[in-house]
Amino acid sequence: MAQRKLLLLPGDGIGPEIAAEVSKLIAILNDVVSAGFETETALVGGSAYDDCGEAVSDATMDLAMAADAVLFGAVGGPKWDGVPYDKRPEAGLLRLRKDMELFANLRPAICYPALADASSLKREIIEGLDILILRELTGGVYFGEPKEIVDLGNGQKRAVDTQVYETYEIERIARAAFELARTRRGKVTSMEKRNVMKTGVFWNEVVTRIHREEFPDLTLEHELADAGGMKLVRAPKQFDVIVTDNLFGDMLSDIAAMLTGSLGMLPSASLGKPDAATGRRKALYEPVHGSAPDIAGQGIANPIAMLASLGMCLRYSFAMNREADALDAAISQTLEAGIRTGDIMAEGCTKVGTGGMGDAVAERFEAALSKA
Ligand code: NAD
Ligand code: IPM
Ligand code: MN
Repeated sequence: MAQRKLLLLPGDGIGPEIAAEVSKLIAILNDVVSAGFETETALVGGSAYDDCGEAVSDATMDLAMAADAVLFGAVGGPKWDGVPYDKRPEAGLLRLRKDMELFANLRPAICYPALADASSLKREIIEGLDILILRELTGGVYFGEPKEIVDLGNGQKRAVDTQVYETYEIERIARAAFELARTRRGKVTSMEKRNVMKTGVFWNEVVTRIHREEFPDLTLEHELADAGGMKLVRAPKQFDVIVTDNLFGDMLSDIAAMLTGSLGMLPSASLGKPDAATGRRKALYEPVHGSAPDIAGQGIANPIAMLASLGMCLRYSFAMNREADALDAAISQTLEAGIRTGDIMAEGCTKVGTGGMGDAVAERFEAALSKA
């Protein structure tokens, strides 16, 4: 079996705790199906800053560029509140996304049947939910220039962030949305604020053209992002694929996470464009949640978002669909067995910590792989 190179970047806070659980699954894949994963581990975020003064070093960037896939835990925390803006932990993640050109961020929100009562919303609103938020990840206000705080010299300052989108950036994320919708229920909802923002007018125009010219057989709807957010909470099952910009996508995906019961449940895949020669796409997989400083070090974080991110990695980087299905099933079965971390705990269930949840999924995953 050809070697498959993974770069594991645990990061800060609960990052290393959930990364330890994903390593168990990688070892199982190597043992049971000879997957040939070779894992290197490196520092990122605050821990990298403490080590070398940068949130991601050039050497780690080289490893990320050369890897078949990057598995990322989480970065950030109050310890680094005072570090210079361009060296803060989050800057490491942003550099990885930008330099690897990971423009397409897939954030699925699926309600596992066993968790239909864990959401703050009523069971009938979220039962059977399966939506995909596609967030543009390398443009918009996150990266637009100028981005600065200017001293006006009169006792006043002015802070500027710039929302910029060019044609090709919207075209490629729109195509990705339609291609994904084709494999699902065939519907794309584009969200922007064309009533206030020039980038919203332009986003709407480009997505509409790509639909008309290349995907006329699929359904396209438009929502203003604020109303879209409201509808996501009122009746989320009306959506299939939601495509939106970097900042709206950040916010809407945290909202969508709560539909599934906990931020600790939501995985993501960030994909680049296929290489012209090899067809290989650069890719990074990470939970949607952050480093959860409030619970870090206690061994109580839910590792499922991280484990399900490995599932997306198996599917999107290695076409290991059978193994990805086995992992999704192992997560479902674990939840059905009433095994819960604190964030999704319910009456009558068994409360476990991060390691207990990781072991429960690993055991079922190994059994499923061994059977086939
Ligand atoms: P957060 O996602 O870290 O936490 C929000 C809340 O959700 C907290 O109460 C936390 O305990 C809970 N939570 C998150 N993940 C959980 C899990 N796996 N299991 C159980 N509970 C979980 O967001 P925040 O508190 O706003 O940010 C903390 C730090 O993380 C900040 O520095 C932020 O910039 C950073 N952050 C990093 C990433 C990333 O690395 N991708 C993403 C978001 C935020
Ligand atoms: C996310 C996070 C990041 C973002 C931060 C940590 C840079 O919130 O991945 O959702 O804003 O994109
Ligand atoms: Mn976020």
